[in-house]
Amino acid sequence: MQVSYNKLESVLERTGMTDVKMEEIMKESLEKLRELKQQKDAVILAHYYVPDEVQDVADYIGDSYYLSEIATKVKEQTIVLCGVAFMGESAKILNPDKKVLLPEPHADCPMAHMASVENIDEIRNKYEDVAVVCYVNSTAELKAHSDVCVTSSNAVKIVRNLPNKNIYFIPDVHIILNDGYCHVHSNISSEDIIKAKKSRPDAKILVHPECKGEVLELADYVGSTSGIIEYATICEAKEFVVATEMGVFHELKKRNPDKSFYVAGNLQICPNMKKITVEKVISAMEKGQPEVILSKDFRRQAYTPLKRMLTMAGQK
Ligand code: 13P
Ligand code: SF4
Repeated sequence: MQVSYNKLESVLERTGMTDVKMEEIMKESLEKLRELKQQKDAVILAHYYVPDEVQDVADYIGDSYYLSEIATKVKEQTIVLCGVAFMGESAKILNPDKKVLLPEPHADCPMAHMASVENIDEIRNKYEDVAVVCYVNSTAELKAHSDVCVTSSNAVKIVRNLPNKNIYFIPDVHIILNDGYCHVHSNISSEDIIKAKKSRPDAKILVHPECKGEVLELADYVGSTSGIIEYATICEAKEFVVATEMGVFHELKKRNPDKSFYVAGNLQICPNMKKITVEKVISAMEKGQPEVILSKDFRRQAYTPLKRMLTMAGQK
């Protein structure tokens, strides 16, 4: 199936509005957001999986790593995080004195809850010299009990550079151990990829590391959302089958209007990321909430593994 995008297509499909009316609404929203950003000294960060129109109003868009990193660099006092809860929590942990708003507090990543502190304690008691490596898609509590955080764009580099003999990786089973998974990526099967390869023999297969091992084996490229976008932009091929959430198609098409992108499976939509709307972003900024609130203990303890990720990812 080919997915073609223009700027407002997804909203038009959902609302049945004409594009002229929609353009007007977007213009008004952008104007309102411009005012609110000034009044509240706020900046909008968004992940590539949020709806296209939310990506369009963001000041910075990126993968999970980029969002953590940029959150430490922006000068504004309020960070509006358009993504799921763990992303807002990471921004708050790294910026305890700033206000972090999550426009949709119920946008939560199920995988973030798929490990437990009890498992971590058990592993620590069982193995000596173990590093608990926490995929950033985890709650603040799990981060607080870990030694270092990682994202899909830096996991290999960071794990390779850890001095420890044993590594306990939480929560994604498709990377190492534990039994957590992302339902969006787990739904993509090797049969889907084989089928896509047959119908598009010239297409490059781009796969997110949260997919199953059997899918990773069939990939031409494996990487984070930013990695996939960069690879497709540099690569000379004209067709790509993309095995990750469909939100990335917006940036892929923007940067590569002459190339074609196809989904691999049928259900590449994260319902939590899609809960975030421009209206909710405006409302959060007007009301100054929902705000990310974390206990001082979690915040302090989770700071070290997150900060260590930023340091280790930046090292040569
Ligand atoms: P990245 O943006 O790090 O590739 O992660 C994808 C994801 O599933 C975020 O929830
Ligand atoms: Fe979580 Fe998967 Fe959605 Fe990312 S795409 S937020 S990992 S459920």
